[in-house]
Amino acid sequence: MPATDTVRIQLPDDRDYEIRIGSGLLEAATSWQGLPQAATAVVVSNTTVAPLYAARLRERLLAVYPRVDLVVLPDGEQHKDWTSLNSICDHLLGEALDRRTVLFALGGGVIGDMTGFAAAIYMRGVPFVQVPTTLLAQVDSSVGGKTAINHPLGKNMLGAFYQPERVIADLDTLDSLPDRELSAGLAEVIKYGPIADAAFLGWVEDNLDALRARDKAALGHAVRRSCEIKAHVVGQDEREQGLRAILNFGHTIGHAIEAGLGYGQWLHGEAVGCGMVLAADLSERLGLMPAGFVERLRRLVERAGLPVQPPKLGAERYLALMRVDKKAQAGAIRFVLIEALGQAGLHAVPDARIVETLTAHGAA
Ligand code: NAD
Ligand code: GLY
Repeated sequence: MPATDTVRIQLPDDRDYEIRIGSGLLEAATSWQGLPQAATAVVVSNTTVAPLYAARLRERLLAVYPRVDLVVLPDGEQHKDWTSLNSICDHLLGEALDRRTVLFALGGGVIGDMTGFAAAIYMRGVPFVQVPTTLLAQVDSSVGGKTAINHPLGKNMLGAFYQPERVIADLDTLDSLPDRELSAGLAEVIKYGPIADAAFLGWVEDNLDALRARDKAALGHAVRRSCEIKAHVVGQDEREQGLRAILNFGHTIGHAIEAGLGYGQWLHGEAVGCGMVLAADLSERLGLMPAGFVERLRRLVERAGLPVQPPKLGAERYLALMRVDKKAQAGAIRFVLIEALGQAGLHAVPDARIVETLTAHGAA
């Protein structure tokens, strides 16, 4: 069997779990052994991913579970909503599945977030396993237990903290990922350098071409290092009382772009990439970072195949959208800003400074 990297996420109350990263993991029997026993496993996927990988996963799971069901949801961020969540619950209740049932989220972050939320609320909680098939989901969304659906007034506004039993990140599934989605995942990979590891930022700069060419060794390193950083942060601050907020670098403006344009127009990773450039601009503007940082990050985001020019929604619309952000407090918009390479913190930023940044980037 090809080499597998394992990153362990350490949490209180016996909730530690493993993130396994490597090639061939969908096929490996060991990926599915040692999970909670149940009469039924339910694979949740979507109309794009299910035809590619669900039969293979189902076959492997049938070696462990007597019955394996498949729920296929419509594809897209615009379907990360009550209707899709209900479809999962309709199946679980309609088939009278008991509280030992194990859910398997097979897909990107949309499927992972919704399946995790369904697992959190079905009979007040059933076990679930993340099987991420996008780069974004492998480096970020499948790890750390944030689950959610969107509301028309704000992204990921309805959800729960609920940890999976295990994460199985099979690098081979990335072979079928469209280039645009690979780039979106690279945004979250880029994120980890400025917030936590200056050396990793340099590594990503040096290896970006290999990552875009889907070199397995480069992808494996990027997924492992990203998961190590995320596991370390989540292990210290699972419920985002403080430190975990740094994982949202680029997300304040990113979420505003996604909600402002309508979910599904810009990909989440595209919005985060552009949001990081603007947050870097704020970091420079507020004197936290020396001149040159915005340009360094902008160049990297652009090389990753991501947009760096934010949509012109108007300053008032951006401000209104950002006030719904979960990090806002008493109406003050708070940003994750870079304080030094590899170090980030949460900062309340006056509206006037935000408008300066939006104006400088043609978004106001
Ligand atoms: P996604 O789930 O929409 O997947 C992107 C597209 O790729 C979809 O069309 C999907 O069907 C397709 N796809 C998935 N795997 C494929 C494969 N192997 N081959 C071919 N096509 C494939 O988007 P995403 O970028 O994976 O995730 C974005 C979501 O994740 C957002 O909703 C975001 O809010 C959420 N997110 C959550 C967290 C968290 O901590 N929970 C962190 C970051 C992002
Ligand atoms: N993606 C942000 C977090 O998991 O906290």
